[in-house]
Amino acid sequence: MAVQKYPDANLSIAERVAALVGEMTLDEKIGQMTQVEKNSIPPQDVGKYFIGSVLSGGGGYPQPNTPAAWFDMVNSYQEYALNTRLAIPILYGVDAVHGHACMNGATVFPHNVGLGATRNAELVRQIARATAEELAAVGIFWNFAPTVAIPQDIRWGRTYEGFSENTELVARLGSAYVRGSQGEQLDAPSSVLATAKHYMGDGGTPWKTSQTWNFLLDQGDTRLDEPALRKIHLPPYISAVQGGVMCVMPSYSSWNGLKMTAHKYLLTDVLKGELGFEGFLVTDWNAVPQLSPDYFQAVVLAVNAGMDMVMVPYDYKQFISTLRDAVQRGDVTERRIDDAVSRILRVKMLLGISGRPSVHPTSFSEVGATEHHSLARRAVRESLVLLKNDAHTLPLSRDIRTVLVAGKGAHNLGMQCGGWTIEWMGIDGNMIPGTTILQGIKNKLLAHTQVIYTQSAELSGAEAEALSSSPVDIGIVVVGEAPYAEGVGDREDLGLSADDIALIEWVRSKCHKLIAILICGRPMIITDQLPLMDACVCAWLPGQEGEGIADVLFGDHPFTGRLPYTWPRRMAQLPFDFQHLGEGDQAPLFTYGFGLPTKSA
Ligand code: BGC
Ligand code: BGC
Repeated sequence: MAVQKYPDANLSIAERVAALVGEMTLDEKIGQMTQVEKNSIPPQDVGKYFIGSVLSGGGGYPQPNTPAAWFDMVNSYQEYALNTRLAIPILYGVDAVHGHACMNGATVFPHNVGLGATRNAELVRQIARATAEELAAVGIFWNFAPTVAIPQDIRWGRTYEGFSENTELVARLGSAYVRGSQGEQLDAPSSVLATAKHYMGDGGTPWKTSQTWNFLLDQGDTRLDEPALRKIHLPPYISAVQGGVMCVMPSYSSWNGLKMTAHKYLLTDVLKGELGFEGFLVTDWNAVPQLSPDYFQAVVLAVNAGMDMVMVPYDYKQFISTLRDAVQRGDVTERRIDDAVSRILRVKMLLGISGRPSVHPTSFSEVGATEHHSLARRAVRESLVLLKNDAHTLPLSRDIRTVLVAGKGAHNLGMQCGGWTIEWMGIDGNMIPGTTILQGIKNKLLAHTQVIYTQSAELSGAEAEALSSSPVDIGIVVVGEAPYAEGVGDREDLGLSADDIALIEWVRSKCHKLIAILICGRPMIITDQLPLMDACVCAWLPGQEGEGIADVLFGDHPFTGRLPYTWPRRMAQLPFDFQHLGEGDQAPLFTYGFGLPTKSA
């Protein structure tokens, strides 16, 4: 690779970058600034157009979806890059936002909302490290994570991608993630470039300010004065930059009417200037055409605002010829191009991509490693928030005669894992490795316990009969949200579905003690159902280790999680005015930080 062409160890990276840029043609430079989605480009075009980066969007897995196929896919592009005149490697990017969950077999960790509930920065660092190891094992050295949004309105479909509504907590956990992913040294074998996203104010958009599709909040317009913007939304970027983050993804959203993708002041003056950010900026997916109906204008605006790489992601030929045109006409200066390319090359050199030990395609032992599963299970345990626990219902004894486990979330890894799992919008059912909540519970129980499982109130045969004769000791109902991602998850109503409510009422009538487990990317309206429950646990989107839930239900470990978001009593309270939360009946149902503790048995 380029680094080998300029291997002079006496030269600094800055000098090597300068020497390399000095040799590059305009086409080679523009290629470096181009990021293409893998299904939109044949590998040989990476060589032909000097493409700098390829990505898998949500659901961008190879066939078959195995580590070996991922490795081969990435390297099929890499081969062409390394065969170009200057042999500059591509950086392949993915959204491993809760583990590299798009790859079947990878460890699927809780989404950030659950990590926010743990309050545990060291745990977050370890999860980022484990994720980086699983990425590096298949030849991927760039993760579009962490999301350091500060979601201010939980109706937003990306609330679960954020750690918390609290700026200080997000800053703390976000920088821990950066440290974990990038490691001590960016060129260490399993260090992976992190991306702080989406800069900035993505979590601050008011209701119905979005102009994208039928979104309500996502990609909207954050309307705040500059001191408020800086106070609420900037701190995680300050921490991330201080922690060495080398990539930032500006947001689709706007600040006071101007799209972040074109926001020269916030991108160039504040982030690169004032904060001293030395890495590169990558646009969000297809964000450039949003800037203007005139594509030429849109490209000029984005690049001149400070965008270094453009996630095109489809028509790279159009992007390349448009940017070339803009440079030739003087609308974008060569100086701006050289700055963008230098930033990208600098990161590639720091990562030492081609110097990484090559993986043996038959051994992917890092992927889904036992230690990573244990880490995920621990994260699940620490993320659970106990909202109600009357008469010490929890922890449960192992010695129960009869248990009824019900609900669409009880035996469904897809629902447990949420969005960005195999597919962009997640999956339904148990097609990936892992342990469901039902299996976790069964594994704890003694052999003589009778476990009845049903998704819905429709039961027949012996089980229906068993339930009609006398109530079971314990009813466990697992309800909540089906997977979604981004603005598709924007919701006007966060109430439980009619089916879930009916199921809770039905299980209540069949058991002595009712425990509800919520699988959800954000608080839901449970005010009317709470009185029916003896205990209520919010499990967020825990990922593949359902056993972690059973560990805490049965008291092998205590409940320690605390709410990362204020929990509303009714929808009309949203969005919260955090400075003036009401009292009494006007108060939230549960305050930020709430969580009942238990002792382990
Ligand atoms: C999302 C980003 C993501 C990108 C690439 C966009 O739609 O907003 O968070 O990194 O797609 O998948
Ligand atoms: C991609 C996502 C992207 C979305 C936005 C999806 O097909 O997989 O990464 O964010 O499109 O349009």
